[in-house]
Amino acid sequence: MRRLIHISDIHFGRVDYEIVERLREKITELAPDLIIVSGDLTQRARSAQFVEARNFLKSLNAPQIVVPGNHDIPMHNVFARFVTPLEKYKRYITENLQPFFADAEMAVIGINTARSLTIKDGRINRRQIAAIRERMCALNERMLKAVVTHHPFDLPEGFDDSDIVENAGEALPLLADCGADVFFSGHLHIGGVTHTANRYPLPSGRSALVIQAGTATSTRGRGEANSFNVVEYDFPSLAVGRWECARAVEGFRETARENFAQDENGWRVESGEWRVES
Ligand SMILES: [Fe+2]
Ligand SMILES: [Fe+2]
Repeated sequence: MRRLIHISDIHFGRVDYEIVERLREKITELAPDLIIVSGDLTQRARSAQFVEARNFLKSLNAPQIVVPGNHDIPMHNVFARFVTPLEKYKRYITENLQPFFADAEMAVIGINTARSLTIKDGRINRRQIAAIRERMCALNERMLKAVVTHHPFDLPEGFDDSDIVENAGEALPLLADCGADVFFSGHLHIGGVTHTANRYPLPSGRSALVIQAGTATSTRGRGEANSFNVVEYDFPSLAVGRWECARAVEGFRETARENFAQDENGWRVESGEWRVES
């Protein structure tokens, strides 16, 4: 069994520090095998914000796959935005814009979808698609194969399609074809789980999961409480738990859980309901 914790949009520069502490405590308690951080580490890509994000991530004692988000590219400094867009991210967080983790049960690759030319939209390019295929296609079928991006491949209801990562229509079939099981993302500040077959019907009938995290620590929650996801994988089963913090004094607790089982067509829901009113 493998336990992954998926946090996103931590937005240092606009956080509730009490919630940051509750998050750190809960992650330590849950002792994950891997932590996924799907971008927007800072609010405005300032050095002090990256230092805070770095210190927070360092304090979590587990391997990590981290990708940048649109907020990690300077917005107002035109030189920095277009000439050295991820310089601070690279200096303070990691030089590696395509991190990869693999063990006997899972393989997880991180892809940078943040771009200088657009304020908030993201894109996955052909080079990145090829890199994922190179890593994933040869892997054992029992392994969980996951792709991490800031911008999502699918959306909950009520969102505009422009929030989807650009070029997803080309990327998704190519990635599903070599067995990508799960796409982790952030950006919307809304958590949820969707099946790719609805938006991307494939001739094979295969469906992957898009697991979306809300914001773990930012004070901009779009009406949702701060949250993160816990994914437990034990072939052929996968459980996604949603952990929410309604008030800092209460800390994070599991408020919903959905169980999936894998067959040749991808995932089917076994039990559970993502949205449980607490
Ligand atoms: Fe964000
Ligand atoms: Fe974002």
